[in-house]
Amino acid sequence: FVKQATVSAPVNIACIKYWGKRNESLILPTNPSLSVTLSQDHLCSTTTSRTCAEYEENLLWLNGKEVKIDNDKRLNTCLQAMRKQRERYEAKYPNEPKISKWKVHICSENNFPTAAGLASSASGFAALAYSLAHLYDLPLSDPADISDLSLNARQGSGSACRSLFGGFVEWQMGRDDLLGSDSRAVQVADHTFWPEIHALICIVSDDKKGTSSTAGMQRTVETSALFQYRIQHVEEQLVDIKQAILKKDFDTFAKITMQDSNQFHAVALDTDPPIFYMNDVSRAIIGVVTEYNRVSIAAGGKRKAAYTFDAGPNAVIYAPGENMKEIIGMIIQYFPQPEPFKDPFLNEVIEGTLVPGFNSAVAKRHEVGAVKGLIHTCVGDGPRVLGDE
Ligand code: DP6
Repeated sequence: FVKQATVSAPVNIACIKYWGKRNESLILPTNPSLSVTLSQDHLCSTTTSRTCAEYEENLLWLNGKEVKIDNDKRLNTCLQAMRKQRERYEAKYPNEPKISKWKVHICSENNFPTAAGLASSASGFAALAYSLAHLYDLPLSDPADISDLSLNARQGSGSACRSLFGGFVEWQMGRDDLLGSDSRAVQVADHTFWPEIHALICIVSDDKKGTSSTAGMQRTVETSALFQYRIQHVEEQLVDIKQAILKKDFDTFAKITMQDSNQFHAVALDTDPPIFYMNDVSRAIIGVVTEYNRVSIAAGGKRKAAYTFDAGPNAVIYAPGENMKEIIGMIIQYFPQPEPFKDPFLNEVIEGTLVPGFNSAVAKRHEVGAVKGLIHTCVGDGPRVLGDE
């Protein structure tokens, strides 16, 4: 008897960043955060979990590379938490097969190259938790069930808890410092609520070097005075951006998203020794988006795009879909590409739609390097069950 479950889970990119832990082993954050889940059609992790009585070891194959789960603290924590839940289920339904004690074999793959420099731990741990929940027949139909499951995904990687929902997702920091039972993800709005929001991922570097999120945030907590200011004020920003989402007020959404990204990178710089996640190309992209918004505001309009950067130089630009052609046009125009893009939509705009009034001198000063690739995507749904086979 072999039992198996295959699922996929999406990537999420935060508008209000999670940065800092108050409990390292439970992964409890120092501030609440909020993210947008991106479509799994472009970016996702697919995970198959399998269990049978004969397996001798808990093993994971991550993009083909074997990992012993028992030797990996985060993977093991996640697996043991899921097994405990299965034990409770077996106690409640004595006729169900007793599989909680069996070892598991898990296979996980990303549909985007790891070389793209995109964080894969969020989608990876979300897919892991979701596939085990499915393997163990745990309840998943209610949003409250998914929030409960997010407690387990969180212990794999903090940001993973937000990938268990589609749309716009909040990670509540919680107050329970002992068990972390209320540090969970909740959905603010699903992916059908504001589908006009698109995302353009600008791949600036596929370099994996640099300071990991885990190590970086730990150092920030220990050394940054600016960080103390941040954690006292993030919540206000979170309340405001949630309201902006529910009112579909892109201007406010964009303002807060960019402010929070900048503050996060300021806090990284205030860390001792300082951490630089953005590079010259990242800053040039900020310049282009800023000028694009300035032109719109000068003409009596509102912000038309928002940039945000995680713990690396790649930009994510959020914008209403109707502005994407212009935005892609600008990026293509001002940043050389090493090779032509494969996406037909991108080629369509390769000529570049000139934005009237755009001060190209601003962009010209930014001839600093290439944008290696663009991924044009949109708000997406939560994890999907792909099969029991
Ligand atoms: C900058 O979730 O990767 O992307 O909990 O240590 O695994 P760990 O960290 P991780 O940190 C993500 C940091 C961020 C901001 C965010 O996604 O909110």
